Amino acid sequence: MVSPTEIEIKLYEVYDASYQVFLKNWQVNRQVALDLMQKHLKPQPPQVAVLSVGAGPGDFDVQVISTLKQEISKEFKLRYVAVEPNHLHRQRYEQKINPSKYADIDLKVHPEKIEEFWTDEKFDIIHYTHSMYHMPGHEQQLVQKAMEMLKENGFLILTLDTRDAIIFDTIFKYAALTGEGFTDMLQMEKMQTMVDELGLSYEVVKYPEYMDVTLCFEENSSAGKALMDFFCQADSSQLSDEQRQEMLHLLASNINEKDGRKLVPLPAATMVICK
Ligand SMILES: C[S@@+](CC[C@H](N)C(=O)[O-])C[C@H]1O[C@@H](n2cnc3c(N)ncnc32)[C@H](O)[C@@H]1O
Repeated sequence: MVSPTEIEIKLYEVYDASYQVFLKNWQVNRQVALDLMQKHLKPQPPQVAVLSVGAGPGDFDVQVISTLKQEISKEFKLRYVAVEPNHLHRQRYEQKINPSKYADIDLKVHPEKIEEFWTDEKFDIIHYTHSMYHMPGHEQQLVQKAMEMLKENGFLILTLDTRDAIIFDTIFKYAALTGEGFTDMLQMEKMQTMVDELGLSYEVVKYPEYMDVTLCFEENSSAGKALMDFFCQADSSQLSDEQRQEMLHLLASNINEKDGRKLVPLPAATMVICK
């Protein structure tokens, strides 16, 4: 395995802090992806094997495991493999999902980036849940690699924000204001074009999700700063006061107030590609 550089370690730490705040304020709909997994799963004895790419701190994988445990009968062993290069996410993952809590599951967590990961194992389900954004330029190759890693009845499942998600506007705005950060980031519509180019068929389900950005408007709030970092996908302390006001204005112009919370739209979609 290639060890992370000092800069990567620092970025992983910043990302972990902002993702924790993001997760707490995200009105996420994980059910669509879980339903699609149940719908397409055709288990063959003796084992159901899942690969989670960019597993993060494990919040979604806990739900996948519990759904699959209900879905498959006792004669199947569940094998669950996670790929997660961020050491802090892995620590959180291993606190949540470990052999003492899940003695009946064959668990493995790999520290590599997916581009460096190799196995001859085959999987029933491979999922990239909100992780393909972080592999720019490798998307088509990773889809092809996943198709090769699937069992005969297996399927790949990709979840991404759709183009209407406000985060693409904030990332773009940050780049325009500072000349740094990302000018482009993967969206489901672009992913669909890439999968079309590969000649693969798929099913896509789109659905609304929201983020409560109330914290971003609190002065001197470290959680608010961490959330703003996530909306910039960069260090928001690089913004001048005036630039910060512009970012807040962009968020404010997209807010729906609900029960005292400031919600901005982050619609997402889940794609299933069967082998
Ligand atoms: C937005 S988080 C999603 C986490 C989790 N799947 C979820 O839905 O909550 C994206 C994850 O992708 C991981 N990631 C980034 N680059 C990666 C790469 N090259 N290979 C594998 N995972 C990567 C990040 O460390 C992070 O945990």
